[in-house]
Amino acid sequence: MNKLTVQSRIIRCCDISWLSFKMLMLLLFMGSCTWEEITPVKIPVSEEKDFLDAEYTLNSLDKFSAPHWKTADYRIIPMTDLVTKQVDGTDGILNTSGTYNGLADFNKGNTPNLTLKAAYDDDNIYVVIAWDDISFDPSQLRWVYDGPADPLKSGANTAGWTSQGSDDKLMIGFDMGNNKKDVWEWSLALSEPLGYAIDMIDDGGLKTDTGDKLFIRNTTGTDYRSGPKYEWDGVEQQLERMTGGFTILDPGFYLLNTMPFTGDVANGDALYQLECAECHGIKGDGEGFTWATKVPVNIPGVYNRLSRGAFDPILGNISHGGSGHWVKLSEVEKNDVIARIRGFAGVPGYYLEDPAQATSDVFAYSNVQLAKINSLAKNEEGYRVMFKRALDTGSNEDIVFAPGNVYNFEIRLADHDGLNYIGAISEKLIVRSKP
Ligand code: HEC
Repeated sequence: MNKLTVQSRIIRCCDISWLSFKMLMLLLFMGSCTWEEITPVKIPVSEEKDFLDAEYTLNSLDKFSAPHWKTADYRIIPMTDLVTKQVDGTDGILNTSGTYNGLADFNKGNTPNLTLKAAYDDDNIYVVIAWDDISFDPSQLRWVYDGPADPLKSGANTAGWTSQGSDDKLMIGFDMGNNKKDVWEWSLALSEPLGYAIDMIDDGGLKTDTGDKLFIRNTTGTDYRSGPKYEWDGVEQQLERMTGGFTILDPGFYLLNTMPFTGDVANGDALYQLECAECHGIKGDGEGFTWATKVPVNIPGVYNRLSRGAFDPILGNISHGGSGHWVKLSEVEKNDVIARIRGFAGVPGYYLEDPAQATSDVFAYSNVQLAKINSLAKNEEGYRVMFKRALDTGSNEDIVFAPGNVYNFEIRLADHDGLNYIGAISEKLIVRSKP
């Protein structure tokens, strides 16, 4: 409502002395002349800025739902192709170039709507980042046995164990001067589960800050064909995160509680082809050659949610169309077939360390529900990630944020990719002076 109508209402309201007292009371009661109407209230609204604006606030910030984020100004980042047309040439690495054509591939060619907000309090700076990416890609170099070929890597050998796929990632790099950048990475596979960003420094080459890594390659050897060392031990993977609270990690994609991976996968494949492929398909896609059951066993994640012990009661039960084929297997053979099923869905390529050992200074968490990720479902609400870091960590590997300063940063996004990125390279963060 504008001022003019407010005034005219006041006049009308006061000119009505000829009306009976009862009438006046009734009008007041109906709200035609109330205090609210004549008091101009300035409601703070979120406005678009051409830089990232970090205001000082005493309000709490570490939840997406914190009221401050509703009113904080925002920056929509204009996106360009940063790195494209890269394919990982390493033997055994396949299907890791989801952002190969840059913007044309990212989010299936739709704008990512990358939007940032920031704020700080007496101790920490917070950056909230939202973007659209309709597909969830939670696995990084998962172990697949006799897996799919890579259309961008023709002629590559897919036999045996290969390391397949790349997750969704975001990197933000703050210019520290002297050709140094403080880089924080959010990775759905590697950083999100524990609630810390991967804290790195870029001084011509990108390396993680000093200290132990929270994610370790799950491998029996040194290359990308060695096969998995561990699998889930069947115990629910509960975790208390510093920021983001209690969570449960989906064993389909994350390994925290582990035991050694067992079974002879090659023998398991031979048995699978003999006893199971006719109904579940040679490649595990559900396209059996005597009965196309349409029951695939190669959906990422799915059969890693069954512990070794959980297979027997399900597959040996008379209600399973192939129970006769299962029960005739010896215990050793059953274990080999389970190893083969794991190799269809893919065993997580990394396992995670206890976050109590964290050396990262940057907290990061997102809106992803980690207990059960359906990698085939659409990520309708997109990603929302929050970074939280001390203004000054005291480490020379970390940038210092101080009120009244301007910082240059770049930001990169990858959709199912480890090499190619879209983003923006010269953005500004203004940390406002304290009011
Ligand atoms: C004659 C066809 C047939 C054969 C052979 C067969 N299955 Fe099945 N399987 C099915 C059908 C149909 C289903 C889906 C519903 C059901 O019957 O449980 C199924 C379901 C499954 C499931 C999903 C269970 C669940 O509850 O999610 C797995 C895993 C599976 N089969 C593994 C195997 C393995 C391993 C073998 C080989 C030892 C095998 N099947 C042999 C027909 C078969």
